[in-house]
Amino acid sequence: MTTGRPGATGTLRFPSAFRWGTSTSAFQVEGAVGADGRGESIWDRFGRAPGAVENGDTGDVACDHYRRTEEDVALMARLHTDAHRFSLAWPRILPEGRGRVEQRGLDHYDRFIDSLLERGIEPLVTLYHWDLPQALQEAGGWRNRETAEHFARYAALCRDAFGDRVRDWVTVNEPWIVGLLGHQLGLHAPGERDLRGSVTAMHHLLLAHGLAAGELRSGGRGDTRTGIAYSLFPHTPDDGENPADREAARHSDGYVNRWFLDPVHGRGYPDDMRRHWEHAVGALDFIREGDLDVIAAGSDFIGVNYYTRRIVRAERGEGPWPWRVVEGRPGVPRTGLGWEIVPDDLRDLLVRLHTDYPGVPLLVTENGAIYRDEPAPDGAVHDAPRVRFLHAHLKAVHEALALGAPVEGYYHWSLMDNFEWAMGYWPRFGLVHVDRATLRRTIKDSGHWYARAAREGAIPASLAVEAGS
Ligand code: FCB
Repeated sequence: MTTGRPGATGTLRFPSAFRWGTSTSAFQVEGAVGADGRGESIWDRFGRAPGAVENGDTGDVACDHYRRTEEDVALMARLHTDAHRFSLAWPRILPEGRGRVEQRGLDHYDRFIDSLLERGIEPLVTLYHWDLPQALQEAGGWRNRETAEHFARYAALCRDAFGDRVRDWVTVNEPWIVGLLGHQLGLHAPGERDLRGSVTAMHHLLLAHGLAAGELRSGGRGDTRTGIAYSLFPHTPDDGENPADREAARHSDGYVNRWFLDPVHGRGYPDDMRRHWEHAVGALDFIREGDLDVIAAGSDFIGVNYYTRRIVRAERGEGPWPWRVVEGRPGVPRTGLGWEIVPDDLRDLLVRLHTDYPGVPLLVTENGAIYRDEPAPDGAVHDAPRVRFLHAHLKAVHEALALGAPVEGYYHWSLMDNFEWAMGYWPRFGLVHVDRATLRRTIKDSGHWYARAAREGAIPASLAVEAGS
């Protein structure tokens, strides 16, 4: 891959092999939860608990993408993207998570993959984006080591079904968020609040990654690659001059980032965090001999989900952490959810990953922003803030490439407005607007902007004229 370089006419050109993609996950877009023998997932169950999801929203309909895949692949073609990241719903393929296979679920994804390939769109397939079959939850879910073994069998089944056409696989999406929101804070399915259970679940997710990677590689097309999509948060000390705050930032980075990246890339769990967890939850005896070799075995790329940064201060807050996350800085622009927009941190993160884990290809598997977009009277969706967000982050990726980071592609979160977990449908993340009443799709201004970038393989160096920033 050649390094991106500025064009002569104020454009920033990306390498010709760079992938311009979009990203979704099954539960957030598919709907059709009762179709074709699909089993129940933890998100179906969790979403029905009173107060679990804002506004009482559920994933029952979502974007009805399960039934509108053709229409949605046609949309991607209009966006000129050449890559799409999506997840398979485990309970569509194995309704109880193990044992009986549902052929109609396999057939659905078979057709979807073919229709993407027919349009020249390279699939990046995630095996686990949070919709665990409820039957496995009843046996302990991710706290139960056996779930990792069931996951490996599910991966083998997917390899046999799709491995001839799919090269790149994300095994697990955001193990930290699963641990934090699903098992520690109870804000996501399965809604548990158990610190030790959360650390256990995170280990089993990494083990599941390693076991599944072994299965995916032992077959398929021969050039199969596997990786994890991590929720990576760059850290800033509240007071950069204060050694205690700098140490707090390093420590919190261990909790959020290194705890996952280090073992997956062959370094084992970092000692500082291992001591921390032992102190907080007792002996980590769920880590068995040989696990770290399994975990390190199948990491061919790093999937980077980047949204914002964390600013931390050395101060005891709630829980066993010797740091506190503090509010963002005044004057820094924010998304509609209040997250700070810090594209330079994406650049620095990509460069850091290249430095810390040299030679590992990088894929930006998620990046995007919430705004409350609604169509204007002319029917169009004028989301200039998202255009600026996209431009700034793609520019950051371009800078990272110029600094030598091996970034192979960018998958915008999301293709379309969808079910944003515990927040329901109000947050709109899409390049495509979805009308909640009619499910009508409208490409937003940001989608048109991205389409041009994807078609040309370049972005303007500056947005001043085009988006009035
Ligand atoms: C990530 C999730 C994704 C989406 C975005 C906004 O944490 O992987 O499903 O919800 O956040």
